[in-house]
Amino acid sequence: MSKRILTVVSILMVISFAISACAPAAPAAEAPATEAGKVQVFSWWTGGGEAAGLEAMIKVFNAKYPNIEFVNEAVAGGAGTNARAVLATRLQAGDPPDSWQGHAGQELIGTYVAAGQIQPLNDLYEANGWLAVMPETLIPLISKDGNIYSVPVNIHRANVMWYNPAVLAANNVAVPTTMEEWFTALETLKAAGVETPLALGEQWTAMHLFETVLLGTMGPEKYNGLWDGTTAWDGPEVTESIANYAKLLTYTNSDATSLTWQDASQLVINGDAAFNVMGDWAEGYFKELGKTPETDFGWAPVPGSVGSFQFLSDSFTLATDAPNPDGVKAWLTVCGSKEGQDAFNPVKGSIPARSDGDKSLYDVYLQSAMADWASNTVVGSLTHGVVANDSWKNEINTALGLYLGTLDGATLQAALTTACAAQGPCK
Ligand code: GAL
Repeated sequence: MSKRILTVVSILMVISFAISACAPAAPAAEAPATEAGKVQVFSWWTGGGEAAGLEAMIKVFNAKYPNIEFVNEAVAGGAGTNARAVLATRLQAGDPPDSWQGHAGQELIGTYVAAGQIQPLNDLYEANGWLAVMPETLIPLISKDGNIYSVPVNIHRANVMWYNPAVLAANNVAVPTTMEEWFTALETLKAAGVETPLALGEQWTAMHLFETVLLGTMGPEKYNGLWDGTTAWDGPEVTESIANYAKLLTYTNSDATSLTWQDASQLVINGDAAFNVMGDWAEGYFKELGKTPETDFGWAPVPGSVGSFQFLSDSFTLATDAPNPDGVKAWLTVCGSKEGQDAFNPVKGSIPARSDGDKSLYDVYLQSAMADWASNTVVGSLTHGVVANDSWKNEINTALGLYLGTLDGATLQAALTTACAAQGPCK
């Protein structure tokens, strides 16, 4: 470089330093507030506490980016069963929303990243300093080859057993912590005439129950082994899990297939059922119904899974062909911010993905989830995208669907074994 150029460069540097020293503290880490146009955000948060959580985050977005129109493209249906089908069709047709909800883990990496449908966000992570505040365990689940592909907004817990304290008390039933205690409790409740000892909903909620029973029966190490090929699907742990599952199903409502997750958890709140296994979005729903934790509903880890936190994380993406990438970066900036997460999660019934959330904003249940997230053994959810990619999960879902009709455990176990060999790590 010539001396003259060097001098010019140094003068420019001095000027820019001077400007930045005088300028009001600009939110350097944030996307500029000048973007315009609209940003379409696709999710399945349409009701039951979920929509309210999303609305709270949209409010933060609207205040920060008044020039960008937020287009809420939510499609109803718990766990994204309908939304994900609609999304797949749109992606296939080359008509992606700007940003969509995807689960950290295999759902994201094995589906959207594998198909080249979403863009890396490393620049946004750097600009916002997110690597310092997002859990280390989460980053590999949203990364491939050094690229980070989504912004997690929360941590949800899957292995929660919700219960109606009054129903248990009226029948002298203590909160069970082991599978054996759970069966005894269910039997006592059934004998006492409680109509639905264990509430269940449509098929994805049956898979949700199944994954928690796998964990509760075999413990976290063996459970993790199912997803990396070190625990055999045709082994005794899975046999025992299926037997436990079969037994649990005998205490469930006969109209399960026609109930949404909200319907099933409402049975507990209404006192028509004693227990329901559901992720902690149920807490957001209970609170939307005006219910009080510990009084109107209680919770405990699914029996057998005390000390394990079966997690999932909702995250948002930037579509490869996003119509408005700057608008998405603005949205994602809110998703990753402390303000956005602390607005969203207390309503949604989840804890912030960031480690610096303001604990005082979270209720007694969520504070207990924060403590468990920090101290428990963390394992991933099947139903909500962490441990298996879509094709493997779909095979498991098909096998489980058949089983719910036949209750033929041996056939289920054989199908699960085949699924791991065909789609999973047992190849
Ligand atoms: C999960 C999602 C949660 C909640 C739940 C029920 O897959 O991660 O945030 O929406 O489905 O719909």
